[in-house]
Amino acid sequence: MRRIAVVPGSFDPVTLGHLDVIDRAAGLFDELHVLVVHNPDKSALLPISQRVSLLEQAIREAGLPTNIVVSSWSVGLLVDYCMDVGASVLVKGVRSQIDVTYETPMAIVNRNLASVETIFLLPNPANGHVSSSLVRQVAALGGDVSPYVPRVVAEYLQKATV
Ligand code: PNS
Repeated sequence: MRRIAVVPGSFDPVTLGHLDVIDRAAGLFDELHVLVVHNPDKSALLPISQRVSLLEQAIREAGLPTNIVVSSWSVGLLVDYCMDVGASVLVKGVRSQIDVTYETPMAIVNRNLASVETIFLLPNPANGHVSSSLVRQVAALGGDVSPYVPRVVAEYLQKATV
């Protein structure tokens, strides 16, 4: 049986922390779906289609494994997407106890809804402080985001904020 997992997130924009988790998750499964999901609790910087495009370019340029599929999901539950593609596992990166506290109720609800398990991966400590919200803030104020994001994202944000 093929082991299929989904890494969901806002990816607004994708960071080096995300890429690290995606890379390691891809090594654990036969097929890994990186899914851009609209999060109504956050005000978005980039349109979903742009986030997908940047993720695809960043994954290609970083030479990540070829069993990774990037897509987006805007209608229905996350577990509906999992059922559609035959995934039984969600993968989330957790940087701190705050992330674990935020993710735990969602993990339990997703298991109750559709028996989809969630596994948490710890980040490379070098990326432990990196978040999309910090990147959005630094970019909006004209700072250099290149230490935190893939090259394509840094270039895109630089052009977008000039
Ligand atoms: O990168 P983010 O913003 O922390 O990602 C959060 C996300 C998109 C993974 C989360 O909001 C989510 O799982 N949304 C799916 C909606 C859903 O299925 N909710 C019910 C079960 S928790």
